[in-house]
Amino acid sequence: MSGVAEILAGKGVCICAGSGGVGKTTTSAAIAAGMAARGLKVAVLTIDPAKRLADSLGLPELGNTERQVDPALFTAAGIDPGEGELWAMMLDSKQTFDEVVKKHAPDAETRDKILENRIYRQISNALAGSQEYMAMEKLFEIHSEDRYDLLVLDTPPSRNALDFLEAPKRLTQFIEGNSLRVFLKPTGLGMKLVGRGTGVVFSVLKRITGLDLIEDLSEFFNAFSGMVGGFQERAKRVNELLADERSTFLVVCGPAGDPISEAVYFHRKLIEAELPFGGVVVNKVHAEGAVAVEREDLLAELSERLDNPELAERVTDNFVDYRALTVRDRANIRSLTAEMNAERVIEVPYLDSDVHDLSGLLAVNRYLFADRTERRALAESGG
Ligand SMILES: Nc1ncnc2c1ncn2[C@@H]1O[C@H](COP(=O)(O)OP(=O)(O)OP(=O)(O)O)[C@@H](O)[C@H]1O
Ligand SMILES: [Mg+2]
Repeated sequence: MSGVAEILAGKGVCICAGSGGVGKTTTSAAIAAGMAARGLKVAVLTIDPAKRLADSLGLPELGNTERQVDPALFTAAGIDPGEGELWAMMLDSKQTFDEVVKKHAPDAETRDKILENRIYRQISNALAGSQEYMAMEKLFEIHSEDRYDLLVLDTPPSRNALDFLEAPKRLTQFIEGNSLRVFLKPTGLGMKLVGRGTGVVFSVLKRITGLDLIEDLSEFFNAFSGMVGGFQERAKRVNELLADERSTFLVVCGPAGDPISEAVYFHRKLIEAELPFGGVVVNKVHAEGAVAVEREDLLAELSERLDNPELAERVTDNFVDYRALTVRDRANIRSLTAEMNAERVIEVPYLDSDVHDLSGLLAVNRYLFADRTERRALAESGG
């Protein structure tokens, strides 16, 4: 089994994808910190990090630009990153969308028309996939400035990891698609609108009420139509970046059955889409403890020591439940490794506390960056 450092050797972009709550933000921040500690200039683009993590990395609430994480934090953790630097940014997808509009608008009037348009203001937040797309857009922008050795992209908490892959397609289809043409036709607008009745336009309509709705809509689409070409071109280049051999996708998942199946599915989809697959991080694994003890023996010993039979019983049950989880996790990880190259599966245990600062990230990195020998030693010491 290789560690993240081997998987990322020579890479310029790492995308951490996976379904909600599995630890994408934690993993991306940890990877970025780990690579910075190894002497690279790294930027991590995070999405809605937990406030404590953002605070400890020195990220302000708002702001769509990277900030350098205080090098003193590394020194305090006993690390000399050498030339390495860690930069972090909290991604603001609405602001990114505005920046895209500003870049592609043919003139100032069109730009203002779009930015002030009510429909646009709704769409830029609500359109399915727009947050995902804007994450990639920002990645592309920072990548083209060529200021970092490595960019690590966290992805939005999608219901489904695949939403992320389909985002550019959905967004460009929406902008270039039939919905747009309907509004560009000067006549029969209302009829056609009602006639269609389904799809993205309708769901947007459902979100919005107001008398000048149709006017807003046609103004929006008319203004946007001049930008379609630029947008498509941009989306194409974003896709090229994702597919580049110097980019890699890490799939983050949890150890339960469903997340594992989803990771397997996501892996297949990446291959189908000819996107570069780096590996799977199975996070929050219930690590196998070294204790092999019978329930009755444990209960007897605890009852004696605790002098509180009820508590002894509860602790024993808890231990047995936990052991069942470790067994389940092992079985799930076995089927995952059978499905894909075992070299590509990295386990991170369920740590005793939340990961909310650099030292927490470094604790995660003991596992993410462990090479084969270190991994064995960690496993033998019971995690
Ligand atoms: N290995 C771990 N051990 C213990 N706690 C962890 C571990 N990994 C992550 N956590 C904690 O789990 C919570 C969720 O993690 P995180 O925010 O990284 O998930 P996410 O996939 O980004 O979620 P979302 O999909 O909502 O963006 C956080 O509180 C984090 O500190
Ligand atoms: Mg997150």
